[in-house]
Amino acid sequence: MVKKVMENKRVIPFSPPDISEAEIEEVVAALKSGWITTGPRTKELEKRLADYCHTSRVVCLNSATAAEELNFRICGIGEGDEVIVPAYTYTATASAAIHCGATVKFVDIQKDGNSINRMPEMDYDKVSEAITPKTKAIVAVDIAGIIADYDKLFKIVEQKRNLFVPDGNTDLGRRIQKTINRVLVFDDAAHSLGASRKGKMVGEIADFTDYSFHAVKNFTTAEGGASTWRDISGIDNEEIYHQYQLYSLHGQSKDALAKTKIGAWEYDIEGAWYKCNMTDIMAAIGLRQLDRYQGLLERRRAIIERYDAMCDEMGIRHLNHYTDDGESSGHLYLARIPGADDTVRREIINRLAERGVMTNVHYKPLPMMTAYRQLGWDIKDFPNSYDYYQNLITLPLHTKLTDEDVDHVVSQFTDVVKEYL
Ligand SMILES: Cc1ncc(COP(=O)(O)O)c(C=O)c1O
Repeated sequence: MVKKVMENKRVIPFSPPDISEAEIEEVVAALKSGWITTGPRTKELEKRLADYCHTSRVVCLNSATAAEELNFRICGIGEGDEVIVPAYTYTATASAAIHCGATVKFVDIQKDGNSINRMPEMDYDKVSEAITPKTKAIVAVDIAGIIADYDKLFKIVEQKRNLFVPDGNTDLGRRIQKTINRVLVFDDAAHSLGASRKGKMVGEIADFTDYSFHAVKNFTTAEGGASTWRDISGIDNEEIYHQYQLYSLHGQSKDALAKTKIGAWEYDIEGAWYKCNMTDIMAAIGLRQLDRYQGLLERRRAIIERYDAMCDEMGIRHLNHYTDDGESSGHLYLARIPGADDTVRREIINRLAERGVMTNVHYKPLPMMTAYRQLGWDIKDFPNSYDYYQNLITLPLHTKLTDEDVDHVVSQFTDVVKEYL
């Protein structure tokens, strides 16, 4: 994916969507079908995603943020409840809990991230210390597509079972909390569709999972997202699915498709709820992306292996996407420049941009952001998050990169960064 803006100058965008003729044709077919909002294509995508993720049900929505928020609402989490979230993530992980009225408690990451895969992952001792009788959920984030250590999280919530008070703010939420009877484990899988750990797909690991299909993600529907969950004994998945439908469509007892049936004009409003459904135009993109997804994951892996070889040669710390424990979805390539601070890192990013290599930073920790500072959080209390962030650069990693583009990134990165080592 090279745009020649000036003679001899390659510009490599950070993360353009990979849309083939197949997606375009399916969108056109949806537009011509007479059904453009939530309908048969959305339902088909939900079924195929559930098969892919090895879960009973998937609900397609308009974003991961909506999916995570509805996961909280389904579990009856709201005012008076606490939700534990890593300080090192995108805002949506925390803001979805805030939308429900819950209080977010940030936890720092492990120093230099997970010792094996280097993912900026929560410090689990700190997670354990943060649990109180008000804690209803812990949200782990599979940053860059690497699945967090849910074995550890489940062990912690089991150990703290005696502190858990099951008292959701809805009948369904109360029943879910009573049945699970420990702090709920949520997976923010915005980056990790298709990743697996110890033979399990993301989606069948945590209690509730949300995915993002935003334009920059591996798998896109332009905007979009989905929720899934593990079966909960004694609670019918159809009841849970129906509640997601209500929450995502104004609390309306019949969706637009159901209302087209003869004589079926009448509906009820069961709650003054939200509007975050997926349309069939979005689902049309997703259906054809899913056909191609395995190939997209393999191409990502090939690019990652190339970048790994470069970083290893230069002594640059990088994520290990593929380990004995698990296969990442290969969403982001995080590289950390040894000895660099924020000033040097910014200089490198600018110099790479001048050479046509667009990079990024994932993430500036949330306690550095205005909204969270105003809530009283201070980055000084999250030294490992700051340390991880200050020398981090995210390289372009996407399936529109040709081999020549990857060569270009490698040569420019090597050329610029070697001056700082
Ligand atoms: C870790 C994480 N969680 C949640 C989201 C929110 O996704 P969406 O834009 O689909 O709401 C993102 C988006 O980039 C993300 O990176």
